[in-house]
Amino acid sequence: MAFNLKGRHLLSLEDYAPAEIEYLIDLAAELKRLKYAGVRQKNLEGKNIALIFEKPSTRTRCAFVVAAVDEGAHPEYLGKNDIQLGKKETVADTARVLGRMFDGIQFRGFKHETVETLAKYAGVPVWNGLTDRFHPTQVLADFLTIKEHKGYLKGIKFAYAGDGRNNMANSLMIGAAKMGMDFRIISPGALFPDERLVKKAEEIARDTGAVITLTDEVKKGVERADVIYTDVWVSMGEEEHFAERIALLEPYRVNMDMIKTADQEVIFMHCLPAFHNRDTITGEEIYQKYGIAEMEVTDEVFESKHSVVFDEAENRMHTIKAVMVATIGR
Ligand code: CP
Ligand code: NVA
Repeated sequence: MAFNLKGRHLLSLEDYAPAEIEYLIDLAAELKRLKYAGVRQKNLEGKNIALIFEKPSTRTRCAFVVAAVDEGAHPEYLGKNDIQLGKKETVADTARVLGRMFDGIQFRGFKHETVETLAKYAGVPVWNGLTDRFHPTQVLADFLTIKEHKGYLKGIKFAYAGDGRNNMANSLMIGAAKMGMDFRIISPGALFPDERLVKKAEEIARDTGAVITLTDEVKKGVERADVIYTDVWVSMGEEEHFAERIALLEPYRVNMDMIKTADQEVIFMHCLPAFHNRDTITGEEIYQKYGIAEMEVTDEVFESKHSVVFDEAENRMHTIKAVMVATIGR
């Protein structure tokens, strides 16, 4: 079924009906197929896209740029030191200026209120490319990846292990509730998601048949799971919490025991970037300071046949393309 999403923002999947989410995932699959087949469509010809980044990014930035160019649009990267946003000019004023020139605005940054204010004043669609609270475009890519590997979403047993209250855990919980999954957060109680958000997910679940479980027991959480997902233990902007998170989360590192407890065909997912070895500057610093070479996932799992993390990374581009085509395309 097709949906008219023209003019819509994407700030959180809370604002989208399950059938609309399914539609975006299917549209992404279709755009992926067309790209592989060499069909050029130019659904965004003549459009200008603003890409505001307060935080660094590899995947989200590249996905927006490539998707925009593939479809004939012009993307403009606006880094944190390039524009006045929030320093010399209010977010509301910046939104009204950009809205007069651009057809769509992507925002990645800290406060979720910033992306809400942009959406309120811009007059053009605003897409959330990650805030401290939500990362909805990542979830669309994750769900496309699950559909590709498993063939369906409703009823998928989805185990998220690690920091249960960050932007990924929040967004996956809402997305899983919308799609009727059996969703488990496995983390210490201190890192369970915000109660109000859990209530919201449970309300959604009542309509969709989803099950939402919060547990601090690894075995219970990963039992028969189709998907095991994790994210970094310390998100961007929380760097002072390394010691405390390592102390809390070491028992929740995704390892081969967890994989063996799950379904035989379990897939391992991670939004990336991941700390699975010492081969990065930060990875080496962590090793020197805390004596651990792996954080949220072992290198063995990351490199195993269960891991679909690079399919996920690629799917960021196809799903972001779908969001732009659906909301501002011809
Ligand atoms: N997963 C993700 O959002 O990656 P980037 O931070 O590289 O954009
Ligand atoms: N939780 C992570 C996600 C990165 C894509 C962060 O916010 O840093």
